[in-house]
Amino acid sequence: MSTGIVIAIVVIAAIIFGLIVVLTTSRSSEVRGAGALSRETRSRNSKANISDAAPSGRDVEAQAVVRSTAIVKAAPVEVAPWVAPDEEALGVSRRMFFNRATVTLLSVSVGSFGASLVGFLWKGADGGFGSKINAGKVDDVVQLIRQNKGFLYLSEARAWVTEYPKDAIGKGKAVYGGQAPVFSGMQAGIVALYQKCPHLGCRVPECKSSQWFECPCHGSQYNRVGEKKGGPAPRGMDRFGVSVANGVLTIDTGAVFAGPSIGVNTTGQEAEGPHCVGGGEH
Ligand code: FES
Repeated sequence: MSTGIVIAIVVIAAIIFGLIVVLTTSRSSEVRGAGALSRETRSRNSKANISDAAPSGRDVEAQAVVRSTAIVKAAPVEVAPWVAPDEEALGVSRRMFFNRATVTLLSVSVGSFGASLVGFLWKGADGGFGSKINAGKVDDVVQLIRQNKGFLYLSEARAWVTEYPKDAIGKGKAVYGGQAPVFSGMQAGIVALYQKCPHLGCRVPECKSSQWFECPCHGSQYNRVGEKKGGPAPRGMDRFGVSVANGVLTIDTGAVFAGPSIGVNTTGQEAEGPHCVGGGEH
C-alpha cells in the first residue's frame, strides 16, 4: 500500500471520528443524563414558578455557614409577677362541698346538743323539775290541799301533794323508814307523789269523789298517799323527798323513790265515793 493511500485513510478516519465526537456531544447536552427532568415536568415547574436549577455546592455551604454561625437573639419576654389564685374564682369542688356540708352539719348538731344540755342544767340550777323546789310555807300548803278537797298539784314539781295522817306514822315508819327523805315529809304531815303512773307512765289524776288517784290509761288505782289499791301497776306511786325548814316546805325532785309494794296500806283509807275510772274497790 502506498504512503498516499495510508494518509488518505487516516484523514478520512480522523474526519469520521471528529464527526462522531461532535454528534455525541450535542446529544448528551440535550438528554443530560438519567436524572434530568422531562420536558413536561419542566413545563409544569415553569408554570408553578419552580426553578429546576439545583443549588450549587457553594450555595449549600454558604447556607450551612449561616445556620451554624448566625446568632439569633430572642426577643425579650416580659414576665408577669405570680399572683395567688382566687379561691372563689376557682370554685368549690364537689368533694369540698360535701366536706364543708358535713363539718357544718356536725357543728350545728354538736352546738344544738350543747345548747340543750346547758339549757337543761341551767333550768335545773334555776329551780325547775329535777331540782329542789320551794313549795312555800307548809301551813299554806296544807291549807291549799284542804281547799282543793284533799289534793294539791304542783306543776313545777310534777307532783301531787297530799296530807299524811299523823295517826298512821307508826305503820308508815315500818314501810317508809328506809326512805328517810320521804319519811321526814310524812312526819311533817306531807307526801309528794310523782304524777307518773308506775305502770306505763301516764299522768295520774286525782279522783275527788273516791279520794283516790285513778289512772285513766289502764285503771290502776291508788289511795290518797299513793299506795296501790287496784289495776295493773306493779307498785304504789313513786315519790319525792320532802323537807321542812323554818316552816318552808321543799320538795326535792332530783331523786325519785320507788312506790311501796303491792298490798301496803298504811292509812287504811278506802274509797270514799264513786270511782272515776273502772270499778275498783269501794
Ligand atoms: S299507765 Fe296507769 S294504769 Fe297503765
